[in-house]
Amino acid sequence: MSHGRMAVVALLLVAAISAMSPYLGSSRGMRDGQVEIYSWWTGPGEEDGLHAMVGDFEARNRGVHVVSAAVSGGAGSNAKAILASRLLAGDPPDSYQRHAGLELADDVRSGKVADLTALYAEQGWTSVLPRGLLDHLTIGGKLYAVPVNIHRANLIWYRPATLRSLGIAGPPRSWNEFLEQAATIRAKGLTPLTVGPEWTQKHLLETVLLGELGSDGYEELWGGGTPWRRPAARAVLDTYRQVLAQSDVTSSAADWQPQLDRVTSGSAVYAVMGDWAYSYLAISRKLAWNKDFAVAASPGTDGVFDFLSDSFTLPTGARHPDLARRWLVECGSVAGQDLFNPLKGSIPARIDADPNRYTGYLAWDLGQWRDPHTRIVGSLTHGVVADNGWNAEIDTALELFLRDGDTARFAQTVASTYEDTR
Ligand code: GAL
Repeated sequence: MSHGRMAVVALLLVAAISAMSPYLGSSRGMRDGQVEIYSWWTGPGEEDGLHAMVGDFEARNRGVHVVSAAVSGGAGSNAKAILASRLLAGDPPDSYQRHAGLELADDVRSGKVADLTALYAEQGWTSVLPRGLLDHLTIGGKLYAVPVNIHRANLIWYRPATLRSLGIAGPPRSWNEFLEQAATIRAKGLTPLTVGPEWTQKHLLETVLLGELGSDGYEELWGGGTPWRRPAARAVLDTYRQVLAQSDVTSSAADWQPQLDRVTSGSAVYAVMGDWAYSYLAISRKLAWNKDFAVAASPGTDGVFDFLSDSFTLPTGARHPDLARRWLVECGSVAGQDLFNPLKGSIPARIDADPNRYTGYLAWDLGQWRDPHTRIVGSLTHGVVADNGWNAEIDTALELFLRDGDTARFAQTVASTYEDTR
């Protein structure tokens, strides 16, 4: 999508959402001592983590109050468009959520976010964050956002009792095995795979690409158009098409939480989703890990960690930059991260956080993240490997592909739009 079209879509969305929500999102009219923090964490599970960190921040900064400007919609599906229109109108929140990686690059290029290198030096953050993550936050030698967490995208969620009742020994270790299992599952009248709105289908696409092409092949896809023109890319897209045909895509869930509900109620067998699902299932829904629900690396990705990191920025023109800086200090602190992450279903970005706070799935996750044998790659859907221009073009091409299933055209469009958006 061109930037012009993106802006129009953003404005239409603002109008549509403001009709539904009492919170329109503007920093105008805020009182002294208030700091506006913008995110998309409104859902059960995600919101708890944010509240815990906000509580700690307010306790440490007496008289300062956070105004949470959160816009619902998984993966920022609504929040990002509204944010774009606010930035365009010169009305930024005091701090907003972005993913580490190329998602930040446009904001940096267009001067929307302030350089935080001095704050990093003052807080000593460069020695407590992993080198690879720092690289994703650095553009032109400067640091532009403070990470609060690490999430993993390549996971498949299921209910052990459902697999037992179907006589299936375990979750599929390849997408071909999934397709074999799907035949058994359908014969028993269940849905093999449940999906949600378009961003969840893109999330699924990225895990199929990773599982089928392997880490090197997956990483190559984001470096240029050429790999998309190879027969291997079309073959994976064909697998993706077959996988989707085994899903409830025609009656897909409203967002990722209801998608997971279909798995735990037993009407669908698998869902591919990031580990924010853990907080939703274990904390909000109070289900037991490895009993009421379980999780494995998505097919073909054992030993690979498809990562993303939620980070906060200091927009240029923020009305309360000093308070925003204090918020960023909270985000980058051990205390803030150790309050936020156990509730959010993520692990700390800092290497010196307290590992004892991470139990159940999160202990396993932290072990995998820190294991030197784990191969780390970046998420497409959650901002790491493609910039916003190309990502928007991929969204448009995917929408069309979901309707016409034309693998050759999809691959060709993704390749050529890479070149067009340079
Ligand atoms: C991701 C974000 C996660 C979680 C998820 C679902 O983009 O990084 O923190 O919010 O979307 O909404």
